[in-house]
Amino acid sequence: MIGNPSFVYRKEVGEGLVIMTTQPEHAPQLEALQQIVFPTLAPESLMRKEHYLNHIRIFPEGQFVVLHSARVVGMTTSIRYHLTLGEQHTFDEMLDGGFLNTHDPTGAWLYGMDIGTHPDFRGKGIATYLYNARQDTVKKLNLNGQFTYGMLSGYGALKNKMTAEAYYQQVISKKIKDPTVSRQIKNGFVPHGLVAGYVNDPVCAGYCAFLIRENENYKLKQI
Ligand SMILES: CC(C)(COP(=O)(O)OP(=O)(O)OC[C@H]1O[C@@H](n2cnc3c(N)ncnc32)[C@H](O)[C@@H]1OP(=O)(O)O)[C@@H](O)C(=O)NCCC(=O)NCCS
Repeated sequence: MIGNPSFVYRKEVGEGLVIMTTQPEHAPQLEALQQIVFPTLAPESLMRKEHYLNHIRIFPEGQFVVLHSARVVGMTTSIRYHLTLGEQHTFDEMLDGGFLNTHDPTGAWLYGMDIGTHPDFRGKGIATYLYNARQDTVKKLNLNGQFTYGMLSGYGALKNKMTAEAYYQQVISKKIKDPTVSRQIKNGFVPHGLVAGYVNDPVCAGYCAFLIRENENYKLKQI
């Protein structure tokens, strides 16, 4: 184990699946999984093995994989960050070329940078386990909660039929089921607005929902 984590996560969840803190030996498989999970994302926005090794070094408590035997079938990457409402930045600006040295060890929030499940393993609760593993870190480190920019993955196909705002409103009022954001809402994230131009991916035409899941131990009056 490198990076001297303050704790190590490992949970067996049935069907031969194990959720655990990412280890250096997972890095090559994670690089391959990125390309499978984000097939239309701009190539320069994809994380590679050298990036994963840095994430494990700077913030091991925020990195998780899901294993089926020795195969990596799910993943999530996160950093700590001071959240300022109304702040504008893009995914690539935060990405720091993939290395994520934007991580602030004193940050009061967990910032979920990505999450993905191999297509052969979807619908088994893997993303749910990963969001919960992140929330476990939130609680262990006494953070305010986790936030993310959820890709509105169903919008790209509809962008000539409706505005992104109309699509977003229908997703949050549960009239449209978005493949990514509806699941995040189901997983306890609360939508806090539509963000244009966050990510360079036609699947969502760049649009994301800004989402917050608070630490249940510290219900905040105001964010
Ligand atoms: C979004 C994504 C991560 C979801 O992964 P997943 O592991 O399939 O998600 P889950 O299994 O937790 O949830 C999927 C469904 O299975 C259901 N489910 C959960 N646990 C289950 C279980 N044990 N058995 C069967 N179904 C289960 C969930 O309720 C959910 O149902 P819904 O479609 O009605 O919401 C995955 O589709 C993906 O990798 N997409 C591409 C990348 C992406 O968009 N990433 C997010 C960027 S912000």
